[in-house]
Amino acid sequence: MTKQSSAKPTVISHPLVARDLTILRDSRTNTIDFRAALARVATILAYFALKELPLKKIDINTPVTATEGFILDTEIIVVPILRAGLSLVDAIIDFVPDAKVGHLGMYRDEVTHNPVDYYSKLPKGLDKALVLLVDPMLATGGSADDAIGFLKEQGATNIRFISLISAPEGLDRIQTKYPDVSIITASIDEKLNDDAFIVPGLGDAGDRYFGTL
Ligand code: PRP
Repeated sequence: MTKQSSAKPTVISHPLVARDLTILRDSRTNTIDFRAALARVATILAYFALKELPLKKIDINTPVTATEGFILDTEIIVVPILRAGLSLVDAIIDFVPDAKVGHLGMYRDEVTHNPVDYYSKLPKGLDKALVLLVDPMLATGGSADDAIGFLKEQGATNIRFISLISAPEGLDRIQTKYPDVSIITASIDEKLNDDAFIVPGLGDAGDRYFGTL
């Protein structure tokens, strides 16, 4: 069901993801249905991204007897790359209600395709936390490259990157430069076109999610 190796991205294969990716890719899908489908896939991505978290044993009492239970033994910091990354935040917070959220604002210049930074606000404790960097689209990888570099400069040591759709070019770039960063994605698409859009992709995720087409 799920392919996983330390060097390769984890590609989530699931019938519900296949159904929802189709809704997301379809240019006829309206904003309401786009948001709903993205929220559903985000939940599945979050579930897989939160696998293998360290646990700490605790003692509890059930109504019947004393027993052992578990709490998460790491802080979780979610960092969406604005704007489109915001679409993946709620799914993680649903599972980890006390997760902190940092924001990195960057957009991709339409001519150079390079990321332009315009905002950053990160919580303290990056060095000890599991940092989940989220952005639905990994195209050239420029935005993720910048974001991961910045997070590392700020002290992050344990970073996972969650993307909905990834291009092989972006994946290669991030895996080569940051082999320690694991990547979870719902699809590896075919390629980038001349405008550095993912093919077949789904267009501009931010514009479709926020209704700014
Ligand atoms: C899109 C997308 C990623 C980036 C991917 O953002 O959400 O952040 O481009 O491209 P890259 O891998 O080549 O860097 P966009 O510039 O459309 O901004 P938005 O999220 O505000 O819509």
